[in-house]
Amino acid sequence: MKISVIGTGYVGLVTGTCLAETGNEVVCVDIDKAKVEKMRNGVVPIYEPHLDVLFERNIKANRLRFTTSLEEGLEHGEIIFLALPTPEDEDGSADLSYVLNVSEEIGIKIKNYKVIVDKSTVPVGTSEKVHSVIAKNASCDFDVVSNPEFLREGFAVDDFLKPERIIIGSSSEKATELMKRLYSPFVRSGNPIIVMDEKSAELTKYAANAFLATKITFMNEIANYCEKVGADVDMVRAGIGTDSRIGKRFLFPGIGYGGSCFPKDVKALQKAGKNVNYDFKILNSVIEINSAQKTVLLPKIDNYFKNDLKGKTIAIWGLAFKPETDDIREAPSIDIMEALLQKGTKLQVFDPEAMPNIKKRFGDKLNYSQSMYAALEGADALVICTEWSIFRTPDYGKLKELLKNPVVFDGRNLYNVNDMETEGFTYVSVGRKPVNL
Ligand code: UDX
Repeated sequence: MKISVIGTGYVGLVTGTCLAETGNEVVCVDIDKAKVEKMRNGVVPIYEPHLDVLFERNIKANRLRFTTSLEEGLEHGEIIFLALPTPEDEDGSADLSYVLNVSEEIGIKIKNYKVIVDKSTVPVGTSEKVHSVIAKNASCDFDVVSNPEFLREGFAVDDFLKPERIIIGSSSEKATELMKRLYSPFVRSGNPIIVMDEKSAELTKYAANAFLATKITFMNEIANYCEKVGADVDMVRAGIGTDSRIGKRFLFPGIGYGGSCFPKDVKALQKAGKNVNYDFKILNSVIEINSAQKTVLLPKIDNYFKNDLKGKTIAIWGLAFKPETDDIREAPSIDIMEALLQKGTKLQVFDPEAMPNIKKRFGDKLNYSQSMYAALEGADALVICTEWSIFRTPDYGKLKELLKNPVVFDGRNLYNVNDMETEGFTYVSVGRKPVNL
């Protein structure tokens, strides 16, 4: 099939590349000339495991092309994906200006039947708006479909190629059939394509993200309570996660959720509720608790150093909001580092992928280390913010040798508490007993 993808951000790029992989002819459109030039030369503008291989293969096979011309994109695709940014407005709602501006252009430029697919996370009612903006000028038939994505950063290629479900919000049989045909190679294993009305599809995306953010936040509260009463959150997690109604995933407590989706989407749903006089009390709490959770380690660090952090050197392992990405949007590491800097500490930081992004934000306020061990040299303590695999099995001997004091504050519960106790570390994690304190 002939597909166009407007917007080559994270979602657009993964969507375009993976659709080319199943034999479709894909044209990706972006207004950023430098980015398009780079992509034409085979450079993937984001870090996402496995994307580079698929990218190169499909460009070589001539199934994946890039252009700055919206006109070219609109002419090419029978299905046109809108994968445009929907940034947070000052009031927390999703800013639809990119989506609606492009829709306006689409209305003016399309010459024959097209299916316009909303792939961005957009508030309920957006496909209706997109439809009416296009209809203002369109001289041919078209349909608008809502098709939210559920990609996780770091696993986006796998999530796209083997989705647990595909959601299609459509009230046109013709468009639904085309979408089903497009996605049929991805659901051979029997996973469902669920067809529903556009509004329900739009809400499905927000509901999924808000539910997961709430699940994590619930566990963070249980973890905080565990600390008060001397229970172990690892045990509680194992205990409840085996109940299939609860499930094992997204029960890992820590220093809060971050990233480009959860924080933005939870706030947008809260705001959308307010717009129709519905107060999402549970989301109000999730936002408040998560914001506090990001710095839950701070009082513990402060206490350990008897409120005298000035002049201390702290090593930070992990800057990205989660492993397998260079994304630092809403990363808890930022909140922790800002607070520590304010208290007059010197920070030696390391992350396998996110250092360039953090450098752009913090400049020379931080000391950027070449390796995880280099960050420890002469540090008074280690703080862990992201659970990268390489941090999971460190050389304990080296840790003790390099750190001034064997002290670890672990925001992601990477290590076994008893092992750390035996090794002689002062070890403070989330929802578990501190040892050698
Ligand atoms: C999320 C959704 O999973 C995805 O479906 C949607 O399309 C986009 O948003 P992503 O932001 O890439 O994906 O990351 P995810 O792996 O879901 O983690 C989100 C945040 O939750 C991270 O900050 C992570 O550290 C945190 N998290 C996750 C926890 O704190 N505990 C958990 O048990 C799981």
